[in-house]
Amino acid sequence: MTSSALMNTYGRQPITFSHGKGVRLYDDAGNEYLDAISGIGVNSLGHNHPAVTAAITSQAEQLIHTSNLYGVERQEQLAERLCKVSGMDNVFFSNSGAEANEAAIKIARMFGHNNGIEKPTIIVMENAFHGRTMATLTATGNRKIQAGFEPLLSGFVRAPYSDLDAIKNIAANNNDIVAVLAEPIQGEGGINILPDNFLSELRVFCDEKNWLLMLDEVQTGNGRTGRYFAYQHENILPDVVTTAKGLGNGLPIGACLAQGKAAKVFGPGNHGSTYGGNPLVCAAAKAVVDTVVEDKLCENADAIGAYLLDQFSNALADKPLLRNIRGKGLMIGIELTTPCAELVNIARSKGLLMNVTVGQVIRLLPPLIINQQEADELVAKLIAAISDFEQQTQ
Ligand SMILES: Cc1ncc(COP(=O)(O)O)c(C=O)c1O
Repeated sequence: MTSSALMNTYGRQPITFSHGKGVRLYDDAGNEYLDAISGIGVNSLGHNHPAVTAAITSQAEQLIHTSNLYGVERQEQLAERLCKVSGMDNVFFSNSGAEANEAAIKIARMFGHNNGIEKPTIIVMENAFHGRTMATLTATGNRKIQAGFEPLLSGFVRAPYSDLDAIKNIAANNNDIVAVLAEPIQGEGGINILPDNFLSELRVFCDEKNWLLMLDEVQTGNGRTGRYFAYQHENILPDVVTTAKGLGNGLPIGACLAQGKAAKVFGPGNHGSTYGGNPLVCAAAKAVVDTVVEDKLCENADAIGAYLLDQFSNALADKPLLRNIRGKGLMIGIELTTPCAELVNIARSKGLLMNVTVGQVIRLLPPLIINQQEADELVAKLIAAISDFEQQTQ
């Protein structure tokens, strides 16, 4: 598994997959797995989806890359489609979530300078995850990710997640704030969900202060929570929203969408990417967005997500090991009272792929195409794995 020719950056599981179909993955020994993590929230349409495969193949036969020196028709089409589903005005395409957030951070800083603020500062949240580049790891609220990479960037202040009073308090003492950056649901941070109306109240406060409201929907976007974007659970528009992961169903694409004043910040030369938004990834992503909308996958995520929460709540109700079950759509966290990283191995041995984050939160991000029968199988496998784990830890 580990090769000396690779930098030692990942703690990989001892398994390699050869192919996949729908919610299933198959390893090189021929074993079948139910994929309840979707490449960390990426394969929203499952594996080997015919619409994505067709889009990639036909685009590859025409044109893969020309650079942003020229017009890119597929990029225009995807941008238009994304603006329509999001209510935003325009889009910058990157190759990853971290890069989409870099674009957002640069928009906020330039917005600040345009308004005469020399040291523009962004409020970020405790337990946030925004990526691994220097700016995004500075914005990330996890010392483990930052340690060893100091000096971090200046221009960020941190507030507790979901604490509007703390944000107001920062505002009262800092005239350099230009934006707030937050995930509507923290994924890496443990499936932490903002309370209802929080974003609406934050929207009002950002307007009062002339700050940009910037949402990181790299993980929550593209139907994951039961709406195309998670902010659509409330009747608001952010100034900036970033996304990636599910957008390309496995092809590397990220997007930074802006509206209103934020959409007018960048001009030619302010930002760029050689690969960003090339014809191949945009053709694939357009097929993804079309499929999510046409196959009503947000509605499916809503319905199956609610079903899974119900099933897990019933099945785990009398388990002393259970602390809490939470989620929206197909972004579900089951928090145990004890560290449970070993559960990943137990579940895998039962043919279930999932993930544990922050030590004791089981994270489920199944493909949005999952049906009720597959959901039942997911529940049965995970409950059996938790029972085994319980016995091992007694
Ligand atoms: C909320 C959030 N933002 C940003 C990122 C970084 O995305 P990428 O790994 O594509 O750079 C992630 C990845 O897990 C994420 O969950």
